[in-house]
Amino acid sequence: MAHAESSLEPASGPLLRARRSPPLLGRCRVPGDKSISHRALLFGALCDGTVAIDGIGRGGDNHSTARALTALGATVAFEGGRAEVRGVGLGGFHAPAEPLDCGNSGTTIRLLTGLLAGQPFETRLFGDASLTRRPMLRLAAPLMQMGATIAGRTDPAKPNEIYPPLEIRGGRLRGIQTTLPVASAQLKSALVLAALQADGPSEIIEPGLSRDHTERMLRFLGAPIAADPERHAVRVDPTGWNRVLHATAMVVPGDLSSAAFLMVAAAIVPGSDVIIEGVGLNPTRSGVIDALSAMGADLTVTVTGEAMGEPVGTIRVRAGRLHGARIEGALALRAIDEIPALAMAAALAEGDTVFSDLKELRVKESDRIASLARELNRAGVTVVERPDGLTVAGRAGEGPSLRGGSVQPMHDHRIAMSGAILGLVAEEETLVPAEEIATSFPSFADTLRGLGATLT
Ligand code: S3P
Repeated sequence: MAHAESSLEPASGPLLRARRSPPLLGRCRVPGDKSISHRALLFGALCDGTVAIDGIGRGGDNHSTARALTALGATVAFEGGRAEVRGVGLGGFHAPAEPLDCGNSGTTIRLLTGLLAGQPFETRLFGDASLTRRPMLRLAAPLMQMGATIAGRTDPAKPNEIYPPLEIRGGRLRGIQTTLPVASAQLKSALVLAALQADGPSEIIEPGLSRDHTERMLRFLGAPIAADPERHAVRVDPTGWNRVLHATAMVVPGDLSSAAFLMVAAAIVPGSDVIIEGVGLNPTRSGVIDALSAMGADLTVTVTGEAMGEPVGTIRVRAGRLHGARIEGALALRAIDEIPALAMAAALAEGDTVFSDLKELRVKESDRIASLARELNRAGVTVVERPDGLTVAGRAGEGPSLRGGSVQPMHDHRIAMSGAILGLVAEEETLVPAEEIATSFPSFADTLRGLGATLT
């Protein structure tokens, strides 16, 4: 497909240069959690009044959700780290004048598809080159079973899949009892949004427990939802519900997925001591903490409070010796977005780190298994790639002999940031096309520079 090749063209946007860094020292904060910010905007639009959201993420993905909601009839205004959403309730959306651009954001397209499945009009959703390659049948199939009509782009090479652009004709939905083919919070959340609009109860079961922000936040806002984490099940019963959420002020914790890059950077740059404050510590998301601990990292985590049913706290990381570990099963799922950062830590550990049960990484913003193998190889690290993961041969004590070069992010913010942090311990300069970093962490370079990193 044309877009895969186009990512290999020389970068034309902003370029970051990473060089071997002195210790990273100090305190910092990270932007509002991207997953929670999407949901705060979307659930805010389902409220019966104006909702103030503090600490909102201002990355490109969250703006894609805000723009789409505005085109559908809600009002979203940003001011610094705060957003105000004037909700319209599930019954108050209208057909957008134009197709909705979801940019790079899988969460935007999937959650909106669930919402639009129950709306009495037609919408077309599209995205960038990366989003256009992401599988959508896992979402379309249960929504069509519920009564929506969804069509997508087909690819003769993959006859059993559909891809964006998606055409959604919403309508009256039936409740569903379904077991998802993969543990996916985007998929689960989309089905929950559809289930809220159905004419009977639904139960959605996952093969593993994915992040549960949707369940926590909707419960917080008074939606008819109950979670059964033991069975990885969510029940939604909208019978008798008036189809609006009660406008309630929201606070978004800092993004642990952004913090992960700072945590790994602090763990691998010798002499570092970094404290990250106000970070979300939801246990369904916090695998990166357990994985780094399993690798021997010097970490202290302190829970300091709660926001919308989500634990929040401080993470302190000091550089130290790391060793290989096995990141698999439930731990791998709880660290799904942090595998790129963890793979950089693995490169500096003693011995092998084995990442398994991560087939889903093949269909993220890029094929992350292939992207990580390529970037680690470029830096001189030996990697064995498998269909569901990779094994990274750590080079403990050889850090400064890592090579530099040019990172190829492939439209993937997390590959760009991974390349940049590895560049902080490489012997030669690393060039990082930086445009995509703003998808989730616009202040990435500034924050690292504030800690003393040589990133220009
Ligand atoms: C997300 C769910 C995960 C994650 C993504 C954000 C969400 O995707 O990788 O970055 O906000 O629900 P999947 O649902 O595809 O696992």
